[in-house]
Formats: sequence, structure tokens, C-alpha cells
Amino acid sequence: MSYNIALNFEDGVTRFISCNEGETVLDAAYRNQINLPMDCSDGVCGTCKGSCHQGQFELGDEYIDEALTDEEAAEGKILTCQMVPSSDCVVEIPAASTLCKTGIASLTGTVVEVNLISPTAIELKLTADDDIAFLPGQYVNIQVPGTKEVRAYSFSSKPGSRELSFLIRNVPGGLMSSYLVGQCKAGDKLTLTGPMGVFYLRPVARPVLMLAGGTGLAPFMAMLEHLKAEGTDQPTHLLYGVTNDDDLVCVQALEQFAAEVENFSFKTVVASADSAHPLKGYVTNHMEDAPINHGEVDVYLCGPPPMVDAVLGYFRAQGIEPTSFHYEKFSPSVSAEAVA
Ligand code: FES
Repeated sequence: MSYNIALNFEDGVTRFISCNEGETVLDAAYRNQINLPMDCSDGVCGTCKGSCHQGQFELGDEYIDEALTDEEAAEGKILTCQMVPSSDCVVEIPAASTLCKTGIASLTGTVVEVNLISPTAIELKLTADDDIAFLPGQYVNIQVPGTKEVRAYSFSSKPGSRELSFLIRNVPGGLMSSYLVGQCKAGDKLTLTGPMGVFYLRPVARPVLMLAGGTGLAPFMAMLEHLKAEGTDQPTHLLYGVTNDDDLVCVQALEQFAAEVENFSFKTVVASADSAHPLKGYVTNHMEDAPINHGEVDVYLCGPPPMVDAVLGYFRAQGIEPTSFHYEKFSPSVSAEAVA
């Protein structure tokens, strides 16, 4: 028996390692050629302190209070030299990946198909040439063929599968958009580096509100795939806003999720005054079904910077402070910037 452990480093890099039954995270990382911070490996120095809020594990009683206090343990802090997982876990390591003799993973993928699914959105499907793991909501950097430039795109596909998909904003004249729309064909090889990012679905312990702007829908598709597989007993509501009617994509897939994921509902909103859509304006105009739950809600938001700012302003104006608020701002030509 072994478990998948996601090591999230403070530079945004995530590396997945396998951890054997009874093995500590520190030892498993070392076996996987990752040197996590450590000094004593005996629960004495505290150098290996990190945190874990996702997964089951034992810390034992061999460590001393100077290394990890009871209060710290109650907050989810761990010592990797003492932590023995009994399920898959996500562990935050407060050090850069490069300091741990590792770094961002790289692999190639083969293009299966590329479709212009709206004037503003491109769907790219790849088969990864090797196994790839990511947390639902994370992104990879994809190199634009023939250049050294990379672009950051969130996975919209199911974690754990080599069949990858991405929802990419079509930027007229953009480097990646021009390649995808003008040249890309099935069989092309693309180089991916990642996974990256802190915008990923945490364990669902309270209602969840998802707010997507444009192709910011992508990470939520991966999260919904995860919820479909794992199930949830918490209300989960998605508000998906776009500028024009024909920017709306993946609506059938969302209807399918609504049919298959218990407690999941969604609404689509179009901003343009010319729209024939029933719900017009911005997502903040249509929060009536949002499971705000007096602030006892986990909010996830992915969209362009003005939308992120508008939603933050909405919550401030309502005097609501959600239990957790995770957001990812994206713009067409720069890497994603995530805040959790
Ligand atoms: Fe010293 Fe873990 S390495 S407490």
C-alpha cells in the first residue's frame, strides 16, 4: 500500500511522491530524490516543520514540544520526519523547491485535438506522454512551440488521467492563440512544466461558492470532475460570467455535472447590454442562490483582475467575510497569480 503525497513548495511548485505504508514523509521524499529541510530527523529540532490540512496521518509521540507544540499540531502543523500518512495527503513545505534539490516537473504531451469552441475560447486536448498528477484547480505552463515563451493554463480535465484538456482564451494575435488556431494539429508535441499553484480545491467541509469569469471556468471543470468522483454533501454553486452570449462554453458539460453531482447548481450570466441571455450583468448581480451561509462558505474565484476586484468589493460591501477565499487572477499573456 502506498499513498500519493503532494508536496507544495513555497515557490508554487507541486511535486507528487509515493509514500509507503509506515514511511515518514521525510523518508519518502528522500527516496524520491527530494531533500526536504531537516536537521535531526528525530523530532527534536523543528527544522522539518510544514503543514497538512488534507489527508489522514499520524505524528506519533516521539517528538518534543520545542519542535512542535500541541497548539501547532492542532492547527495542522506537522513535522515531516514524524508524519506517517494513512491516506493521500497535501503537505505545505515552507521552502522553495530548488532548495530541496528539486524543481518544476517537465513532460511532453501529444495534441489530440484543438477546437475553437467560441470566438473567444479554444479547447485543447492532449494525451500526456507520462503519468501526470495535479490537484483540481492547478495549472501548468505550456511552451509555445518554436519559442522559449510559456503560457499558464489551468487543467479543465479530471485529475489522475493522462487525457488532459485546457480551456484557453483566444487572444487575436497572441503567440499561443496564433499557434493553436493557425498551426496546431493532432500529433504535435507540446512541452508542459508543472503542476503549479495554490488555487486548488480544499477538502469540502462547508458550502462552496465558485465564481468563474470567461475561460476562468477551466479550473472549476477539474474541481467538478473531482467532486463527481468523490461526491459531496455540501451545497456547491457556480456562477459563470462572460462578456457576450457566444462566449458561453461548456454549458452542456455543466448541465451534466448538475445532473450527476449531488448538491451542485450553476447559473450563467452575460455582461453585454445587447445580450439575449436571461441573466444579464455581472456575477455579483446574481448572488441570490449563492450559499453564503452567513460567511460559513469556501469561495473560489477565477477570472480577469476587474472581476476579482469586483467580487472582493461585493463581499466587503455586504460585510461578509467568508471562512476561506481563494482566487486566481489571470490575464491573457502572463502567468496566473493565485492567492489563497
Ligand atoms: Fe528535526 Fe524533524 S528534522 S524535528
